[in-house]
Amino acid sequence: MTVNPIIGKKEWVEKPDYYDYYQEIARSSYMLICFMMRNDSVIACEVFHPVASCAKDVIKQNGFEDKIKVVLKHSTELTVGPDGDLKEKANILVAEVFDTELIGEGALRTFQHAVKFLLEPDCIVIPSAASVYAQIIESSLISSWNTLSPVHVAPGKIIVPPKKVTSCHGSAAVHDVQMSQIPQDKFTALTDPICVFKFSFTGEKSIEMNETFIKQVTAINSDKAQWRDHWMQAIYYLPDVVNVSAGDKITLTAYHDEYSLWFAIPKASNKKNN
Ligand SMILES: C[S@@+](CC[C@H](N)C(=O)[O-])C[C@H]1O[C@@H](n2cnc3c(N)ncnc32)[C@H](O)[C@@H]1O
Repeated sequence: MTVNPIIGKKEWVEKPDYYDYYQEIARSSYMLICFMMRNDSVIACEVFHPVASCAKDVIKQNGFEDKIKVVLKHSTELTVGPDGDLKEKANILVAEVFDTELIGEGALRTFQHAVKFLLEPDCIVIPSAASVYAQIIESSLISSWNTLSPVHVAPGKIIVPPKKVTSCHGSAAVHDVQMSQIPQDKFTALTDPICVFKFSFTGEKSIEMNETFIKQVTAINSDKAQWRDHWMQAIYYLPDVVNVSAGDKITLTAYHDEYSLWFAIPKASNKKNN
């Protein structure tokens, strides 16, 4: 999947016939996707054909063919019953269906459906919960990646984009980046990391597909940053430029739907803390 900047939507990118999926899969260790176990039986579920066939190969090479069945389906299409994909409901679910945004691969629906239709009550769900943290930062470098600047085409000749274009919010698409690769003096953290969403996957609490979180936070200069590995941090460009000084109260609004997150700081929301 990639973001098409022209239409502002995520779309699949077709690879040429000679593209070596197997190598890519092996390199990125895409193998264990969604395991459900009952007694001695294990069902591995994968919707993407090259990954499923790689998983089958790896399972065969390790001698687990009789124990692990790979089903090439989206988990929400799995059937349960004597002729189904699962003979009976499973009692353990292990799933790694997360992207940088956590929910971009449809994890919310995947767990919601699994708990309702594929799992016994009181089953073990791994992972059982996840939290999303946000931190407000200021950076003219990062901001320039999302804004059109005047272009110097020849000495004395500059193309200045119209204001309508420079003030365009652009798409709300996430920009994944490893913050450790951005020089520390190129951005300033204006708040500590704030927990904006907590998801429970066990079925004890219902999973909301749409939520809004509003929190007033005080602007500070912070040197704390969330440590991340494997998955990258994600930059979300705010729709409006907001001027903030240390001590200001800022209202951070975080939203999520089934697949994505987005953030805003209403312009009028920041005021001096007296
Ligand atoms: C995040 S990747 C797994 C990455 C791997 N565990 C690793 O660490 O490199 C998630 C995989 O699960 C598959 N997937 C996601 N949701 C699924 C679902 N509901 N049913 C079946 N497969 C799913 C995707 O096609 C993808 O191959």
